[in-house]
Amino acid sequence: MQFNNLLLLLLFVHFTILFQDNILCVQGSTHHYRQNDQDFDQMKKIYTKLFVFGDSYADTGNNRKSFAGSWKQPYGITFPGKPSGRFSDGRVLTDYIAKHLGVKSPLPYRFMEYAGKRIGSGINFAYGGTGVFDTLVPNPNMTTQIDYFEKVIHSSVFIKSELQSSGLVLVSLAGNDYGDYFAKGGTNQGLPNFIATVVNQLAKNLKRIHMLGAKKIMVTALAPLGCLPQSTLLNSFQQCNSTQNTAVNLHNFLLQQAVSKLNNETKDSSFVILDLYNSFTSVLQSKGGHPGSLKFESTLKPCCIGITQQYSCGDVNEKGDKMYKVCSDPNSAFFWDSVHPTQAGWHAVYSNLQPMLQEIL
Ligand SMILES: *[C@@H]1O[C@H](CO)[C@@H](O)[C@H](O)[C@H]1NC(C)=O
Ligand SMILES: *[C@@H]1O[C@H](CO)[C@@H](O)[C@H](O)[C@H]1NC(C)=O
Ligand SMILES: *[C@@H]1O[C@H](CO)[C@@H](O)[C@H](O)[C@H]1NC(C)=O
Repeated sequence: MQFNNLLLLLLFVHFTILFQDNILCVQGSTHHYRQNDQDFDQMKKIYTKLFVFGDSYADTGNNRKSFAGSWKQPYGITFPGKPSGRFSDGRVLTDYIAKHLGVKSPLPYRFMEYAGKRIGSGINFAYGGTGVFDTLVPNPNMTTQIDYFEKVIHSSVFIKSELQSSGLVLVSLAGNDYGDYFAKGGTNQGLPNFIATVVNQLAKNLKRIHMLGAKKIMVTALAPLGCLPQSTLLNSFQQCNSTQNTAVNLHNFLLQQAVSKLNNETKDSSFVILDLYNSFTSVLQSKGGHPGSLKFESTLKPCCIGITQQYSCGDVNEKGDKMYKVCSDPNSAFFWDSVHPTQAGWHAVYSNLQPMLQEIL
């Protein structure tokens, strides 16, 4: 697609989203999430294995301990009570999708050598900090994560048949490619083309996972990145950055087109989008105030925050003093650190996605 067309599209998508946001204000408080328990039990039995690719929204411990903040205090204080490699105070998206299936959260790939050939409820190949391109060397990009998956499948006929009969795939792309793009000097002008490149690569990855035998593949839409604390810090966590969210909407629009095309090509509706954009927005706008969920005291302000801008959640100085502060109740915050939701935040997002999950799984 030409740059000019993309720009027009960007404007078009922006207006569409403004309109949708108005509707969302209403939806956020009127959704009702109680479901028929019997239907729920029947539904759960279809998929009993979860295979996960992507980044920190899905990683449950693949990063090396010496490398990642997710293995430092105070990460994990809510669950499991100590750092577990999750980028949150507790559970993350993967854990809630596994909960929905009624299975244990899948084992991080890094621990497979200890588990032998038994994979239990699946395998998690997601590494915090990664993207479809190389964003955090030496962590494996998504292509390499799928290479690992392919190797595992080829090493075991058993795993391949389980993937085909009862495997669900979750692919998380939370936006590291874009952070990396700007860190390497990318311009706003070049962004639409880069977004198209990212979505193209993502679509190739999805197609490859399908060719390896997966019958159902869920891929996340980007969350509203302009609402992350790293963006709203500039205005004291008062307001989302709408310029950034407009770019996010272009990504999500192109992703939707790519997924429709893949579904048309494969003819079995294998691909579905997990709409983190609308679920984050809805929870933030309703302050998590739907049935069965806690009200969030702070919507845009994170629970764990550096004492000055040069420090992040989990940083200590040479003497070992904490250079961060943690809020008194992580359950009252939607965001944990500058980019990741709290467990309570993910739980609210998951509750919001429930009707859609019931429908597609
Ligand atoms: C992913 O990483 C591999 C190994 O480092 C590299 O060869 C490949 O080009 C990368 N793929 C993409 C799409 O960046
Ligand atoms: C929003 O984000 C854009 C792009 O990153 C940046 O240029 C702009 O200064 C930000 N606006 C505000 C109000 O923070
Ligand atoms: C679906 O694929 C067929 C060819 O396989 C093509 O003719 C048709 O235009 C496609 N439809 C869409 C909506 O892409």
